[in-house]
Amino acid sequence: MAKSTILSGIRPTGGLHLGNYLGALQNFVKLQDEYQCFYFIADLHALNESFDPQKKYAQVLDTAATFIAAGIDPKRSTLFVQSHLPEHAQLAVILSNVIPVGYLFRMTQYKEKAGKQAQGNANAGLLYYPVLMAADILLYHPTFVPVGDDQDQHVELARDAAGFFNRRFGETLVFPKTLHTNAPRVMSLLDPNKKMSKTLGGDHCLNLDDPPEEIRRKLSRAVTDTGDGSGAGAKNLISLLAHFADAKTVQRFSEAAAAKTIRYSELKLALTDSINRFLAPLQERKAQLLSHPKKLEEILATGDARAGKVAAKTLSDVLKKVGLCR
Ligand code: TYM
Repeated sequence: MAKSTILSGIRPTGGLHLGNYLGALQNFVKLQDEYQCFYFIADLHALNESFDPQKKYAQVLDTAATFIAAGIDPKRSTLFVQSHLPEHAQLAVILSNVIPVGYLFRMTQYKEKAGKQAQGNANAGLLYYPVLMAADILLYHPTFVPVGDDQDQHVELARDAAGFFNRRFGETLVFPKTLHTNAPRVMSLLDPNKKMSKTLGGDHCLNLDDPPEEIRRKLSRAVTDTGDGSGAGAKNLISLLAHFADAKTVQRFSEAAAAKTIRYSELKLALTDSINRFLAPLQERKAQLLSHPKKLEEILATGDARAGKVAAKTLSDVLKKVGLCR
């Protein structure tokens, strides 16, 4: 029986954090065994906020190296770059004609980010972000889209877009479902009622590229008591420990937390150790990959070609359905 398809992407914005890893990338790696996977670097989605064009291409290669260092096997999974396949932008333009603009203004991410852009003067790329994301998804007919929970609303919009398109032009696009890991929302270190996110600032995040000393420094500053009785900071640190430490250590700190005898300085040290132990081999593999940029480009070109075949077939079906070709 043919394997079901998985598709997901990550923006190249200069280094991933542990939220990206636990919410998405670790799941990408696991899913490779069971599914036919398409993973891509969402570079077109990285243009709606301020960025340095001199650095963007290096960030694309850096993200590719992170995917592979984390365990994506480009032989089994198709790893490609969104902007290399014009079908993504073409399908987005077509879908923009079936998606009501009101749906886009309602998106939480748009509302949050638009408020922060130049006195509310948000660019259209930010508003159309979910249209392009719907195109990314629908081109590959995936059964599941593994993402953190901040992307759920966008996957739902992709389902709506498939419905609008199919009702108007006939059955063409499939309805994708969201797939979460057991860490769909990793929280910020300094503001644990918000999700870990680069836009909050560097010390809110633990990055996959952070050297050991930086992990130690950031964790030593992490908030444990938010003063609102929620214990959000402590919970976030204990759940991070559950991902990186051995079962005995996790049990010891969980029991101490329940008995209210926990010493947060010890928890932070244990967490620093376990995260650094996890990151060391990943960083080493990544450095090796980045020292051969030509090889990385070849891997991506092979992925582009594989993904391109699927994308071209879907786009051709769509073009026929809307009457733009025979
Ligand atoms: P991006 O690049 O912002 O984030 C990549 C993935 O990381 C997840 N994530 C988190 N998970 C748990 N806790 C957190 N604190 C956290 N922060 C981020 C995100 O949910 C995401 O899964 N729009 C997407 C990229 C994209 C895409 C797509 C994804 C473009 N087209 C098509 C899937 C399908 C994004 O901005 O991800």
